[in-house]
Amino acid sequence: MTVKNEVQWLQKCAKIAQQIDPHAVTPNPRVGCVVVRNGQIIASGVHEKWGNSHAEQNALKGLSQAEIADATVYISLEPCAEKPYKKTPACSHLLGDLKPKRVVCGSLDPLWNGQNIDWLNKNRVPAEYISEPSCEKISPFFMHGQTTKRAWVTLRMAQSLNGKATNPHERWTSCPESRRRVHILRSLHAGILTTTGTVLADDCHLNTRLQSCDTPYPASDAEVIVLGKRKINPYANVLKYDRKVHSLPKIEMEQLPVWAYENGINSLMTECGSRAAGSFLAADVVDEIITFVAPNVYGSGLPWFSDFHGLDDFTLTDAHKCGDDVLLRYVKKAHLPSPWQRGTIDPILP
Ligand SMILES: NC(=O)c1ccc[n+]([C@@H]2O[C@H](COP(=O)([O-])OP(=O)(O)OC[C@H]3O[C@@H](n4cnc5c(N)ncnc54)[C@H](OP(=O)(O)O)[C@@H]3O)[C@@H](O)[C@H]2O)c1
Ligand SMILES: [Zn+2]
Repeated sequence: MTVKNEVQWLQKCAKIAQQIDPHAVTPNPRVGCVVVRNGQIIASGVHEKWGNSHAEQNALKGLSQAEIADATVYISLEPCAEKPYKKTPACSHLLGDLKPKRVVCGSLDPLWNGQNIDWLNKNRVPAEYISEPSCEKISPFFMHGQTTKRAWVTLRMAQSLNGKATNPHERWTSCPESRRRVHILRSLHAGILTTTGTVLADDCHLNTRLQSCDTPYPASDAEVIVLGKRKINPYANVLKYDRKVHSLPKIEMEQLPVWAYENGINSLMTECGSRAAGSFLAADVVDEIITFVAPNVYGSGLPWFSDFHGLDDFTLTDAHKCGDDVLLRYVKKAHLPSPWQRGTIDPILP
């Protein structure tokens, strides 16, 4: 088998993993597996839903012992190991028991960093890692969370040219193309962070309406976190959808990315007003700022920031025309390359 062929099978693993909605498996990564015998794929599998069986189990379950013994198992990610809270048996143990001819992985899990590949080799299953960019890129927020133990936080804002957060004349500040990008952003973050203030003011839905968006999967809604002590109406739009809504009356702001990660949310996008946005910046929890600047100037309307927030530790990474608006992205310099740059889909690129 040439390296070129090996790469082709790993790319196939990445391709089938990308059909899966990230919200269906989060905080797990999207994973694909193909089983190859005599140059032919004899089985394949993906991890479809959090808590359900993993890609390797799905790919191997219909095969005989003789077929497996003569086949190479390609996986987009290093197989998992035993953990006390795991919902499914460890795939490295499954492979160790079934003894395929070989195992090849296209990316390493930062938590194990190749230890599970070493374990397979010690247990008489020849296993190796071939770095394949299409596999490394499938689940960038999973990779970020495994490495930092924090959620990636995207501060999302829409503003007028003179920095107002609210449009006194209309519901929306930004143009339809910018709002479409926001829906793609919602489909790619694990959680949407809002506040009682924004829910009471806007009765927002915060769901993913992607009919006109080009994604390879039918995206579902991200979990929502509502910050603040005030009660929201039990019939509020934000509560209408089939998703988890967390109420967070009080939290040390600095702890927010850690709280999110520990609650299975490895990426958060904020959809809130200026008071909350100012607190996020003051607490230094923001990794990335995405702002849509509309070609309007309002005399009235709430301003975005009343306090000074030096952004010296951020750098402008993108500036694009987005419909009638301008889209600007700033990323914490220390966190470059960002998960988007390491991933396959960047929702803000033209
Ligand atoms: N242009 C945009 O992109 C955009 C996006 C979203 C919203 N908005 C606009 O923003 C306005 C709402 O702004 P807002 O100032 O009322 O609400 P906000 O800034 O979204 O939220 C403020 C509320 O968040 C809660 N909170 C919890 N911890 C906090 C902390 N450490 N710091 C600050 N707040 C904390 C508090 O709720 P409790 O008082 O209940 O404890 C506080 O009253 C709306 O008019 C909406 O249209 C604009
Ligand atoms: Zn597994």
